[in-house]
Amino acid sequence: MNFLAVSQFSADTQTIIYPVRKEELASQLAVIAEQTALPLAVLETEVKAEKAEITTFFSGEKRIYVLGLGSEANSHHLIKAFRTLIFKHKTKVGSQIGISLQNRPADWTEFVVNGIILGTYDFGLYKSDPKTPVALFEQGTVELLSAEVNPELIEKGKSIAETQLQLFTLLNAPSNFKTPQTLASWAMHSGEKYGYKVRVFDSGECHSLGLFALLAVGQGSKSEPEFIVMEYKGEGANQKVGLVGKGVTFDTGGISIKPSENMHLMKSDMGGAAAVLGAVEVAAKLKLPIHLIGIVPTTENSVDGESMKPGDVIQSYAGKTIEVTDTDAEGRLILADGLTYAVRNFKPDVLIDLATLTGSIIRTLGYHAAGLFTTSDLLGKKLKRAGERTGERLWRLPMWEDYADHLKSDIADVRNFSGVPHSQAIAAAKFLELFVENHTAWAHLDIAGTAYGDMDLAPQRAGTAYGVRLLTEFLTQLINDKSQSSIW
Ligand code: BES
Ligand code: ZN
Ligand code: ZN
Repeated sequence: MNFLAVSQFSADTQTIIYPVRKEELASQLAVIAEQTALPLAVLETEVKAEKAEITTFFSGEKRIYVLGLGSEANSHHLIKAFRTLIFKHKTKVGSQIGISLQNRPADWTEFVVNGIILGTYDFGLYKSDPKTPVALFEQGTVELLSAEVNPELIEKGKSIAETQLQLFTLLNAPSNFKTPQTLASWAMHSGEKYGYKVRVFDSGECHSLGLFALLAVGQGSKSEPEFIVMEYKGEGANQKVGLVGKGVTFDTGGISIKPSENMHLMKSDMGGAAAVLGAVEVAAKLKLPIHLIGIVPTTENSVDGESMKPGDVIQSYAGKTIEVTDTDAEGRLILADGLTYAVRNFKPDVLIDLATLTGSIIRTLGYHAAGLFTTSDLLGKKLKRAGERTGERLWRLPMWEDYADHLKSDIADVRNFSGVPHSQAIAAAKFLELFVENHTAWAHLDIAGTAYGDMDLAPQRAGTAYGVRLLTEFLTQLINDKSQSSIW
């Protein structure tokens, strides 16, 4: 697909899309009536500009869509509206479409481009019926009509979307198509393509390094665990940010096995890894002036004679011993090694981990926000603000010491499961805190509810690539805030 900034739609444009917010309904309908020669009274009867409302009209040979955005049209809603329209109408829109962005905020360009590209995603990757080619996707043109379309924003929307599409494929891949090696080779290819360093430590190397908690989780699986380290250093970077993502390619629960009802969804237990892989790739594509370290400990959590058993005491990279009272609390074990490794080897100014860590965060916040845990008010504020801008909401939860009480073990330095049926997302954050070596600007994002969700587009839940836009926005804000470097 080719995106063009134009000052007038070309004569052969087959479809024109007008995005309309509820509060500007009257003025926009007047503009549409004037430009399309559709009667204003008809437009007024048909269009209410509710969220997700798509109204179709015909003017001569042209198809006209008025795309309702509702009243809280943030970037997330705009992207979603365009994604849905393109996804549902792909066979009807023709190969040449126009988007009217006259008098719209300049940054809409990025979101419209992003949404249109995401609308090309095909959920049925494993279906055997031949795919019908879509003219727009094959050799189509999208004209963006506005006096001030910024080509850099077209590029940004495109770069992010193309990475997100790949992450959708990774997130939705079943475990027989996705092993730790799949994530490792994804990172290697991305590093080669966009010019950043990637090292992958196999299980032998993990052993020499002392990544024992990761190895313990992986010991029951046929596919060996891997430890992925990515490093992108943008020109002019003066801040170093470490990202750590949970890469469990399938979580059976291990010997503390999960109930079977929704276990198939546990192919998505690498949502944190996807966010980290995606954020590093996007930063490299956009050449952001930041030093970024992306760490992904990746493994399956399987049931086998070799699997770790409840009650086992394991070692960790930090040198702390852990009593594994529940093998299903595996994410915090592999993150513990990832976090300590990041701190000791890279000393990042800011350290953020993302993980589909607990069912507890879903019971707390549902699917509409991720849990944010940090002891740094400043970092918490910056992350929350970035999330508000991208529509990837974060909600901060406490880190009071009392929540760590139940993690005390009689026989080891710590245990991985509190044993109580409440506040488990917080207990998990308290567990991780023991492995960040008192880092003062560390945040943990529990994305169990947001990484894999209802899409409206697919009958079942699917990967969202939550975190990629959030982290890109956070990094951009950090770069633009010149006073920042010394205050963490
Ligand atoms: N991967 C799960 C968390 C999860 C649950 C992600 C639902 C997405 C949807 C994690 O490894 C896990 O099993 N957590 C346990 C922790 C418990 C044993 C302390 C949980 O939340 O039940
Ligand atoms: Zn688990
Ligand atoms: Zn898990």
